[in-house]
Amino acid sequence: MIHSRRSGEVDARSAAGVGNRLDPWRDSAARRPGHPHHGRSRGSTSPAQRERYTGGRVLAIAGSDSGGGAGIQADIKTITMLGAFATTAITAITAQNTTGVHAIHMVPPEFVARQVAVVLDDIGADVVKIGMLGDSATIEAVTAVLARYAPGVPLVVDPVMIAKGGTSLLRHDAVAALTRLLLPMTSLVTPNLPEAEILCGFAIPGINAMHRAATALLRLGVPAVLLKGGHLPGDEVVDLLATADGCEAFAAPRIASQRTHGTGCTLASAVATGLAQGMTLHDAVVRARAYVRAAIVAAPGIGKGHGPLGLG
Ligand SMILES: Nc1ncnc2c1ncn2[C@@H]1O[C@H](COP(=O)(O)OP(=O)(O)OP(=O)(O)O)[C@@H](O)[C@H]1O
Ligand SMILES: [Mg+2]
Repeated sequence: MIHSRRSGEVDARSAAGVGNRLDPWRDSAARRPGHPHHGRSRGSTSPAQRERYTGGRVLAIAGSDSGGGAGIQADIKTITMLGAFATTAITAITAQNTTGVHAIHMVPPEFVARQVAVVLDDIGADVVKIGMLGDSATIEAVTAVLARYAPGVPLVVDPVMIAKGGTSLLRHDAVAALTRLLLPMTSLVTPNLPEAEILCGFAIPGINAMHRAATALLRLGVPAVLLKGGHLPGDEVVDLLATADGCEAFAAPRIASQRTHGTGCTLASAVATGLAQGMTLHDAVVRARAYVRAAIVAAPGIGKGHGPLGLG
């Protein structure tokens, strides 16, 4: 069982790269001579202020979806709607709408790590939720910075690999880095079926194979697996939650809708939020699934393709 811990307040003042805020434009290619000084620090939250905040802090590390349906946009909306505080580290900027991912611009890995470091140094996190990482250099940077700044903070990892339209969101050669570096640090992994097939190395055509896959994923060294069944055809959608204690199936009628862009990001963020608020893993999954269903029903019906969810 995963318990959230308020251990994100890491003593990172002395760690390299965080304390030096004299010139935030220093690393920026857009820096111009004589540019006014922006980004002045507002100072740290005091321990007393942090103690008063009880809603949970979730750091989301993910890509931006310009269409507002998935990625970091879905993460912020979900975490906020469920009453926690969202902070972010953006790994990639995508030019995306409901018809698909049209272009990807990766954020330099060291800048991804910088976002993570300064957020954890000041605000901390009760849970870190990870979505699109994109390539092995980013996986290396993120795992290194989390090992340093967030030891003991539960990681909820949505191993984003393929967008709904079929675009690859993780370079093929990065799967090994994900398995070798990230999964051993992960508290809960939430693959969809195509992602689980890649991680397990076998096809998952039905519910029996889902059970085998969940067990195989536990053997990769992750203590909990939420295997999402949205991609299996049928009148029911079934998600499996597997831990060392056993495997629990959550089944519900499929909602007939094309407006399901971002269900996976929303589910993982909702679970992460529950854990950050002190819920048990089981209760966090139950609330997250209810939130996703309500958000599918509330979809605004915009765009020509797989439309975004509404607010659950
Ligand atoms: N049509 C649907 N009706 C009800 N629940 C659904 C439907 N589609 C997906 N879900 C639920 O949404 C959650 C996400 O599952 P899914 O398999 O779609 O993830 P995903 O493929 O990672 O999504 P994304 O497109 O955001 O990457 C699961 O809890 C799943 O059961
Ligand atoms: Mg997904």
